[in-house]
Order: sequence, then C-alpha cells, then structure tokens
Amino acid sequence: MNRRSFLKSLSIAGGAAAVLPSDTWATITATMKPDRPVHNKILVAHRGASSYAPENTIPAYMLAIKQGADLVEQDLNITKDGILVCIHDVSLEATTNIEDVFPDRFEEKTVGGKMVKTWPIHKFTMAEIKQLKAGSRTDGQFPATTIPTWQEAIDAIRGKAGLCPEIKSLPEYKKLGFDMEKMVADTLRKNGLDKRGADPNTPIVMQCFHHDRMLALRKNGIDLPELWLRSKRVKDVMGDIKTAKKLKFEWIGPYKTDATKEFVDAAHAAGIKVMPYTFRPADKAEGFTDLRAEMAHYLYDNGIDALFTDNPDMFPRR
Ligand code: G3P
Ligand code: CA
Repeated sequence: MNRRSFLKSLSIAGGAAAVLPSDTWATITATMKPDRPVHNKILVAHRGASSYAPENTIPAYMLAIKQGADLVEQDLNITKDGILVCIHDVSLEATTNIEDVFPDRFEEKTVGGKMVKTWPIHKFTMAEIKQLKAGSRTDGQFPATTIPTWQEAIDAIRGKAGLCPEIKSLPEYKKLGFDMEKMVADTLRKNGLDKRGADPNTPIVMQCFHHDRMLALRKNGIDLPELWLRSKRVKDVMGDIKTAKKLKFEWIGPYKTDATKEFVDAAHAAGIKVMPYTFRPADKAEGFTDLRAEMAHYLYDNGIDALFTDNPDMFPRR
C-alpha cells in the first residue's frame, strides 16, 4: 500500500524503534524526525511511552514518537475552569505530588470499605494543576514535568505522529455545565483537525467506552475514525460487532484477551478494524512471558490491526 492510499484510509505514519530506556531526554528530542515510514499494523502508545516516562506527559509522548508510535494516546479530563487536560484518572493523587502542594484540599471517598483521601481534578484550576509535578519515574532522564493541557499535547505531537484521544467520563462534568464533546470538537476544529485527512501528517482516531459520546462528537461536526472501546467485563463482545456496524464505528477496542481470531475475523467480515488494549510488562495474557511475543501473537496470528502498548519500543514490526 502506498503512502497516499494508506493515509486516505486512516492517515498513519510511524518510525523506527529504539532501544530504551538508555537514551537521554536530549538524545530523544534531537533525533525526532517527521519523515516517517508507513506501517500496516498500527502502534498506539498508551498514555505515551508510559513504561518509561510519566504517563500522559509531554516527555512520554515525545519518547513514544521516538520509539516509533503511529498514534499517541491522550486520556482527556476537565479542570475546574474548563480546560481539557491529559490525565487518565479523575483525581490527581496517583500521578502527581498534590498531597504535598495542596494537603488540605482533599475529599474523602470509600474504597473497599475504607475511607481514602482523593483530590478530584475538577476541583482544581489549570493554574493550580500546573504547580504540580507529574510522574515519579523521572530517574534523572526526564525533566520535571507537569500535566499537559490537550492543546499542549496537540502542539507537541502533531506532524510527528497521530493522536488517539480518549474522552473520559465523569458525571460531575455535566453538573458543572461542561459539554465535554463540544469542548473536544471545538478544540479539534480550532486546530484544523476535525475532519479525516485534514492534516495527513496527523491522523486521528477518537476513542471512548460510551458509544453515545462518540455519536455526540458527530453531532458536533466531527468526522474522524472512531474506536468504540469495550470493557473486559462485557459478556457478548461478538454481539458488540453488530452494534459497532450499526453505529458505523470503524474500529472496535476489546480487552486484549477478547481479541481472539474468531472475534477479529468476525469484525473484519463486518468491515471493522480491531485495536485491543493494553499490552504492558505487568499485565501479560496467560501463557505469555515475553511482551513482544504476546503482541506478535495478537497481531500476526489473530490478525488485529492495531494495539495499545506502554512499551512502543517492543512493538514487533514485520
Ligand atoms: O483507551 C484504551 C485503554 O487505554 C483503555 O483503558 O483505562 O487505560 O484508559 P484505560
Ligand atoms: Ca485510555
């Protein structure tokens, strides 16, 4: 497949893998190049190269590109003052030093019958969040970093790789008056990225676990490939293929062990591509001791089209 026809179908670009974690941050940034070869199996960096750098930060995104990511994932949430930011959790304590910076601003929640402190992201402004250090895996390799706005992530990634933004879900956002799908759509439009092929060097696949929220993106004028994520708790993933077809989703994203050959063949027969999650060292499927071999099995035996991994450098190209 040549570059033009491939970009027409999805607009994916990628690059050569590197051996990490031995590179320094300076080496990484100095060697990033936008002219990247095209691949037919798509490597999505899960929260960036999150095995090596603080997840959902600019260093993790840049390292993912250096390691050859075709698409770089951002999980999206919203601050108190209505800014889209890149963070997986709806609270700040797991990935930042908020307990040191705002020790008294916690709420309490019950987890497993125990009261724990939590610092919800929608209770903090962007200016407050920028005072926090994101990530604990700096190890001297990465500069001190902060939670990026989505706009900062777009500015850093576009032209070098594609984007795979996930709309995260929190009922409070609606109560606070935020229309998240409109905010996402407005940001894409402002950046000239709201239509497929708008920037051939920046392909985009939108993703969400909730199909109604992707349909809301369409209502907001977005025309981009959509990945419908399915929880590992879903019982009838084969049935979801029919739903995905009916709703005209181009991609389906099951939990990886649901991406059997039977599932992938059925999805392909329905014209739907398969992008399971998440391939990482600590969470290998039963029977696999080697992450690269696990990814190769799903890609080349079962026939998936793409996958999410924390370790882009381990992605087995053929
Ligand atoms: O978006 C794909 C995968 O990231 C879904 O799981 O919880 O890591 O966002 P999660
Ligand atoms: Ca995600």
